Amino acid sequence: MFILAAVGSAVGLGNIWRYPFTAFDNGAGAFLIPYFIALLTAGIPILLLEHIVGSRYGGAAPVAYARASKKWEFLGWLPTMVAAMIIYYYIVILAWALNFVGFAATRAWGDDPSAFFFGEFLQVPANPFEFGGLNIPVTIALLFIWILTYVACSRNIKKGLEVVNKFLLPVMFVSMVVLMIYGAALPGAGVGLTALFTPNFDRILDPNIWVAAYGQVFFSVSACMGIMVTYGSYLPKKTEMVNTAFTIGFADSLMSMISATAIFGILGYMAVAQGVAVGDVAAGGAGLVFAVIPVALNLMGDVGLIFGTFFFVCLFITGWTSFISLMEAFVAPFVVKFNAPRRKVYAVLCVSGFSISLVYATDSGLLILGIVSFVLDYGLALGGFLQAIAAAYIIKNLPELKAYANEHAIIKLGNWYDVCIKYIFPGIVIVMTGFWINAVVGGRVGAVNYPPDVLLVFHGGSIAIMLAAIIYFTRTPWKTPIFDQKN
Ligand code: PFF
Repeated sequence: MFILAAVGSAVGLGNIWRYPFTAFDNGAGAFLIPYFIALLTAGIPILLLEHIVGSRYGGAAPVAYARASKKWEFLGWLPTMVAAMIIYYYIVILAWALNFVGFAATRAWGDDPSAFFFGEFLQVPANPFEFGGLNIPVTIALLFIWILTYVACSRNIKKGLEVVNKFLLPVMFVSMVVLMIYGAALPGAGVGLTALFTPNFDRILDPNIWVAAYGQVFFSVSACMGIMVTYGSYLPKKTEMVNTAFTIGFADSLMSMISATAIFGILGYMAVAQGVAVGDVAAGGAGLVFAVIPVALNLMGDVGLIFGTFFFVCLFITGWTSFISLMEAFVAPFVVKFNAPRRKVYAVLCVSGFSISLVYATDSGLLILGIVSFVLDYGLALGGFLQAIAAAYIIKNLPELKAYANEHAIIKLGNWYDVCIKYIFPGIVIVMTGFWINAVVGGRVGAVNYPPDVLLVFHGGSIAIMLAAIIYFTRTPWKTPIFDQKN
């Protein structure tokens, strides 16, 4: 079923791992309103746009855009490149989750999970950009996951994935609810939940929060990466697309709220126990979930050993199913463009992917992850922006796309949709761009200060590589006859 597959792709680490720390780093309550505005003005509308484009023109993102207008084929390659960056980064968190399956079974983190995570496990260096050697447990896990992915993806595993999604999504949901109830019932949890859910209007004008909110929404609903165009091309023609996009968007944000409630409940407990503010109780950033969930597992006694192991297994599998959908989004265009066997494309991707992802297995991996995350937030927004601009002003197929969706829609797309795609969302991205450049030049990424020259080299380098790749792929002629086929 389409909805299940799409929700399976959407619900992943973005909800359980990424939302809580992104909210934490962006003032918790201050993040809530930008997040929901981003969901409504961009997440769901762009998701819908991608479904319609995929369904109307058929094929993966570059195929669909090339068919919509030959000049605009590159619009499909930009999200494909962003997908590649996410692939290398996502797998590292999966590698951490896999290690935590073993840690949970043995309670390896002892009494101080945070010190364990940053010190013993990741060995974060005192000075940034000391690379040190490779972290062996992370490297082994990465190797294992790349091999597992290659073996699974080079066969046809669609059926298998469907079963996993059908079974695992409810299991994951229930175990998150258990954790949420447990977290929210801890003494002091109220302090954390108040921090999470009280909108903070003082910081609402901070542009960093808006960039983070749009990035989070796109990442979490799997929009702007090409995957939903590909999914849209699988949609039966009579699908009610408007409803579907809303369902995916809300199911996804529900999962994020559940996860954040669990984490902030535990944070509140820790804050009250230590007599400090919620924001001071843990280090933010990518380690938050891994440093905080073990605190609750420790409190559960023996049950925590079993539940914890089970939890990290679920986390790994839900993340891995999202990861596979992302791989598919990346691989599908190459298979068509170069008429290459899937197996071969997967082999190249997995081997190169393993080598690239090793950067994150160095001692400075966590730091680099923070920077890449920031590039991605913006890359995603830019991908969405270009798609919106193309539909509204350049290919000018927005009315046609709308009519196409409305053919089978129960709730019809009205003028609000035009206003979103034409004005609100592009306007927000333009404003964000100014602030984003300002942040990079000033060396500030989210809550962290980096040496500005490092940021400039890093961002400039990744933008240059992406541009070169996009130009190259766009200029390469199609090796399969995509324009002859009927949609
Ligand atoms: N949406 C997934 C998550 O929240 O974990 C991540 C993801 C999967 C992004 C697939 C993009 C994608 F194509």
